[in-house]
Amino acid sequence: MGKKVAVLTSGGDAPGMNPCIRACVRFGLYKGLEMYGVRRGYQGLIDDEIFPMNSRSVSDIVQRGGTFLKSARCPEFRDLEGIGKAVANLKKYGITDLIAIGGDGTFRGAKDMADNFDISVIGIPGTIDNDLAYTDFTLGFDTAVNTVLWAINSLRDTMGSHDRCSLLEVMGRHCGDIALYAGICGGAEYILVPEVEYDLDEIASSLMQARERGKTSNMIVFAEGAGDKEQICSYLKEKTGIKITTTTLGHIQRGGSPTMQDRILANKFAERAVELILLGATNRVIGIKNNRIIDENVSEALEMSGKFDKKLYKLAQIMSL
Ligand code: F6P
Repeated sequence: MGKKVAVLTSGGDAPGMNPCIRACVRFGLYKGLEMYGVRRGYQGLIDDEIFPMNSRSVSDIVQRGGTFLKSARCPEFRDLEGIGKAVANLKKYGITDLIAIGGDGTFRGAKDMADNFDISVIGIPGTIDNDLAYTDFTLGFDTAVNTVLWAINSLRDTMGSHDRCSLLEVMGRHCGDIALYAGICGGAEYILVPEVEYDLDEIASSLMQARERGKTSNMIVFAEGAGDKEQICSYLKEKTGIKITTTTLGHIQRGGSPTMQDRILANKFAERAVELILLGATNRVIGIKNNRIIDENVSEALEMSGKFDKKLYKLAQIMSL
């Protein structure tokens, strides 16, 4: 009998989680592991929502956004008492290894569990925010950016017809990657992100100059962590006389059928996670760097910072002239 391995998704859901669960289960079974699912992330571990999975358990989910295992944010998992309850439940089933798919909060929980109890944990980065510095991309980011692009394309149609200036607020928490990638691909004139300081007076005068040069509509992509959008819009209106129409895309960015890139990542991340389990590894998180699948110690991964692509940001500015 192979090892018993549980899979869960935790934190904000991300497109790509479903194909990743499927790939963990099917590759694990192929390698002789016994696979279990956990509903509702760490909360489900504490509440014993653990069940065995076979190949059919993950049928017809490869194309779906969200996570069929469901997800939750679990404050009880922040202390050792809560984690202890979760471990006791895993032990009841003889489970020795856990694959946790989620963002930095998920990884911190995984690390606390592996550091304090006899459970091995492997993390797979699943978050639309792309805010984990050790990996170039997280699961769900590509789909989210494509959803934002769809919104930008639609906005551009109507902006052009009415000579409007539009501000589109996108998610990302403290990370500007969704705004940056969607902004450059969608031809935004301004991309406001938490990682780069911006000067509203400069934006105001460049808006005016653009209008003088014959640019009759403008797009600002605004990352949610980059300030107060209402204040920005009213300041720019006061300085330029141009009314700015705002759109908040919200949770639409979290859903949708995963793109090819997210499905490929899902399969490759899952394959590496299972391989690590077979090698007896723990406290590792999977990622992709320069197009190669990597794994990293979780503590070191969480300490890394500063991956925002300033060169790409500069390029986006040039392209918007
Ligand atoms: O981490 C993913 C994310 O969608 C962030 O971009 C956003 O700030 C946050 O989660 C929203 O959280 P909730 O769904 O709990 O409102």
